[in-house]
Amino acid sequence: MLKGDNFIIVLLALFFIMSLSQVIFPGIVKGPLSPQNLCCEYLENPLGIDVQKPRFSWTLRHAERGQKQSAYQIIVSKDPCFRTQEMWDSGKVDSEQSIHNVYKGKTLESNLTYYWKVRFWDKDDFPSPFSQTAYFDTGLFHQEEWKGEWISGDNLLRKEFSVQKNIIRARAFVCGLGYYELRINGEKVGNNVLDPGYTTCDQKVLYTTYDITHHLIQGQNAVGVIIGKGWSEIRLLRLQITIDLEGGDHLAIFTDSTWKKAQGPIVSDSIYDGEVYDARNEIPGWDKPGFDDKGWESATTGIDPKGKLSAQMVQPIKVTDTLLPREITQPEQGVYVFDFGQNFSGWVELSVSGPRGTKVQMRYAELLYENGSINQENLRSAKAQDVYILKGAGEEKYEPRFTYHGFRYVELIGYPGVPQWDTLKGKLVHSSVHQIGNFSCSKPILNKLQHLIIWGLKTNLHSIPTDCCQRDERMGWLGDAHLTAETAMMNFNMGAFYTKFINDIQDVQDKNGTLTDTVPFIWGQRPADPAWGTAYPLLCWYMYRYYGDKRILEQHYEGLKKYANFLESEAENGLLEHSHYGDWVSVEHTPGNLVSSFFYYYDILLLNNIADILGKKGDAKSYRDLAEKIKIAFHEKYYDSETQNYGSGSQTSNTLPLYLDMVPEEDLGGILHNLRTNILYQNNTHLTTGIMGTKYLMEMLTKTGSSSLAYDLAVQTTYPSWGYMIKNEATTLWELWQNKTGPGMNSHNHPMFGSVGAWFYKALAGIKQAPDSAGFKHIRIQPEMVRDLRFASGTIHSPLGKITCSWTKSPHHIDLKVDIPVNAEAEVFIPKLKMFHIVLKENGKQIYADQKFLPGVQGIKEAEEFPASIRIEIGSGWYHFELTGQ
Ligand code: BGC
Repeated sequence: MLKGDNFIIVLLALFFIMSLSQVIFPGIVKGPLSPQNLCCEYLENPLGIDVQKPRFSWTLRHAERGQKQSAYQIIVSKDPCFRTQEMWDSGKVDSEQSIHNVYKGKTLESNLTYYWKVRFWDKDDFPSPFSQTAYFDTGLFHQEEWKGEWISGDNLLRKEFSVQKNIIRARAFVCGLGYYELRINGEKVGNNVLDPGYTTCDQKVLYTTYDITHHLIQGQNAVGVIIGKGWSEIRLLRLQITIDLEGGDHLAIFTDSTWKKAQGPIVSDSIYDGEVYDARNEIPGWDKPGFDDKGWESATTGIDPKGKLSAQMVQPIKVTDTLLPREITQPEQGVYVFDFGQNFSGWVELSVSGPRGTKVQMRYAELLYENGSINQENLRSAKAQDVYILKGAGEEKYEPRFTYHGFRYVELIGYPGVPQWDTLKGKLVHSSVHQIGNFSCSKPILNKLQHLIIWGLKTNLHSIPTDCCQRDERMGWLGDAHLTAETAMMNFNMGAFYTKFINDIQDVQDKNGTLTDTVPFIWGQRPADPAWGTAYPLLCWYMYRYYGDKRILEQHYEGLKKYANFLESEAENGLLEHSHYGDWVSVEHTPGNLVSSFFYYYDILLLNNIADILGKKGDAKSYRDLAEKIKIAFHEKYYDSETQNYGSGSQTSNTLPLYLDMVPEEDLGGILHNLRTNILYQNNTHLTTGIMGTKYLMEMLTKTGSSSLAYDLAVQTTYPSWGYMIKNEATTLWELWQNKTGPGMNSHNHPMFGSVGAWFYKALAGIKQAPDSAGFKHIRIQPEMVRDLRFASGTIHSPLGKITCSWTKSPHHIDLKVDIPVNAEAEVFIPKLKMFHIVLKENGKQIYADQKFLPGVQGIKEAEEFPASIRIEIGSGWYHFELTGQ
C-alpha cells in the first residue's frame, strides 16, 4: 500500500506523464486538449494593463473533428500556484465564446500580478485539462497614483537610491517624451526601442511597465534615463519605481527635482534628420551607483505635456532582425555604399576602430544614381544621416537611439580604413507584431508581390500605421490606414495595434465630431477628407469582423455617431460636396466628390450594422433610411444613363457603386460591360485606379464573376501595375504607379497599394467569412482557381486558431486541404471548373458521387452540387478533399 507522501508522489508522476503524453503524442490522446495561446487584451502575459475588466481569449485543440466549446472555466488568482482562488473562479460557464471573455471577479488593484488559467468542455461535455498558467500585470489605474512630477533636462537624467532589504518584486512605470531609454545599474532595461508609442500628447501619453526585480540589488542602485526629442520635440520624463520588500515594506522612487541632469554624448537627435553622437562626451558610470554627480544640475520641473498617462497596451517597437549587406561598392575614393538588398525601416550598427575624434558619417537612401552613389532626393527635407565621432578606444560599436530611417542603401564616409562586410549591420525596426499569415502560389510574380506587401507593411508599423518610413513625413494618414488594414490583419496580429490606433483617432475628434487627415494631426486638414475619415468606422468594423471585438464597437459608438452626424450636417441634398484627395494618385481621373459621397454612404451603412449589433434598433433604422437616401441621391447625381457610366466613367467611378451594391438591377449589365471594356480595351488590361479604387476594384471584380480579370491585373507587369514595380527592382511597394526618382512625392516604400494582399487570401487562397460572421466563427473557403494558377496556399492565425486552405489543380482533378480551428465551422466551395460526373473524396473516402451526398465521414455534415461548384459543410479539423470529374 502506498501511504501519505508516496501516494501523492505517484499521483503527481501519473499526472505529469499524462500531460506529457499530450505534448508528445497528441494524436493518440482522445478528447479535448488543454487551451493554448492565452491572451489578455490581445497580448500574451502583458505587463501594466490599465483595463479594469480585461478580456481573456484562448484557442482550443481537440483530437476529433467537428468539435466546439460548450462551456469554460477561468480561474484568476494572485498566487501563481492557485492555492488561493480569491480573485475569480468563473465556475463552469455554458458558452461557446472562447475569445474576449470579460473578467468578472473582484476589483483588480493597480500594480499587481494576476495569474490565470482556463479549461473548456467540448460539445459532448468532456472537460479539457487546464491550460498552462498565464499572467497579466496591472499598471496604475488612477492618475492620482502617479507620485512626483514631470521633469526635464538635457538628455541624461539620473537618481540614486538605496534598498535596505531583500527585494520581492519591483516594477518601473516610465513615460519619457519624445523617446527614452531606461537604464538601471549600468544596463538597459528591456529591449524596446523608440518608446513610447506616438500619441496626441496633450490628450494622452503612454507609459510602459517593466519588471525590474532582477535589475535592482540590495544596497545602492542607480537609475539613468536618456531622453530623445522624438515626435513631441520635448524632453520630459515621468517615472515611478515601486519595490516590494521582504517583510511587507514598500519603497517608491519617482521623478522630482532631486533628479540630476546633464548633457551626454548625443549632440542632436531628430526622427527625420538622424543622430549625431560624439563618443568623446560619454560619461562613464553615469548610470551606475556611486557616480559623482555633484557637477550635475538639478532636473527642471514644471512642464506638463497635459495628456493622460495611459498604459501602452501594444507591442512595442523593437529591433526584430539583423540584415547583412549584399554588396559594398566604392563610387568615389573614400565613399562606400552598402546595399542591403531590401528596403526597410531602422538603422545600421557601425563597428569601427580609429583615432579619437574621427568623424564617420552614414547617409541613408532608397535609391542610387547611375554612378552608384546614393540618391536622397525623394527624402525631401529629411537629412537621414547619422554621425558618429570616435572616442578612440579600440573597437567601438554604435547604433542610433532616437531616430529611424527608411532605406536600402547606406553611404559610409570618413571610415578609418577599408570597411568590411560586418562594418555595417542593418537593424530592422518596427512595432513587434507577429506575422500570422502566409500566402504562396504557383505564380512567382505574385509571391514577389506578397514579399513587397509584407515588407511594406511591417516597416510602416511604428506604433501608428505610417504612410512611409523614409522622407520628411511618416504620418498616420487615415486613408492609407484603412486601405491597408485588412491586408495587415491577414498577415499580422494587429488586434492591440489597431485598438491603440482607433483610440488615437478618437483623441483627435473634436466636439463637432470632425476628424483629421492624419492622426496624430500634423499634416493635412480638419475636417478630414471623407475618404480618409472613414478609417474611424472602417477600422472599428474590421476589428469586429476579424477579431470578433464587440467592445470596441461599444466604446466608440458615441464617437462614430458624432462623426456620422457631422457628415450628415455637411451633406447637401444627401451628398458630400468636399474632397481633398479623392482617388489619390490615380492614373485616370475620378471626381473627388463622388469618392467622398461613396464613403459617406459606406460610413452610414457601417453605422447601421454597428447599431444592429449593439441592439440599438432605433438608430439602426434611421441609419438604414439615411443610407437609402444617399444611395438614391448618388445614383441621380452621378449616373449617366446614356453612357451607362458613373462619374467620369473611370474604373474607380464605376467600381465604387458596384462594390457596395448601389447600382439598380437594370443598370448593372451596362456598367459591368463598360468597366470591363475600359480595363480590357481602353487600357489593355491595366488598372488606372488610385489608392481608393484599387482596393475595391479587385474585390468587386471577384464578387461579380470576373476573378480571372482581377487576376490578370494582379499579374500584369507593364505600367501601371504592381508587376511593373517588381520589374523595376522594387523590394517594397511604391507610392506611385510611375517609376519616379527625383525630388518630390515618390516614396519607394508606401504600403497603401498593398490592399491587394487581402485579396490574395480571400480570393486566391479562398479564406473568407460568412457575411454575418465575426472573428472567423463561420468560415467560408472559396478559392478562385483562375487561369494558369496551378496552386495556392494560405494560412492565417485567426482568433479561434489556425485556418489553412491549400489547393492544387490539374486536368480533371482538384486537391484541396483545409484546416478549420476548433469552435469554428466552415462552408467549403470547390469549383467544378466545367467538369461533370463529379466524384468527391475526403481522405480517400467518397463523400459525393452520382449527385448525392454520402454521409458517414466525421466532421462532414453536407455536400451539395451547384452549377459551378460543390458546397461542403464541415466542422473543425483537418480535411483532404479530392474532386475528380470528366
Ligand atoms: C501621403 C499619402 C496620403 C496623401 C494624402 C501623401 O503625402 O504620403 O500616403 O494618403 O498624402 O494626400
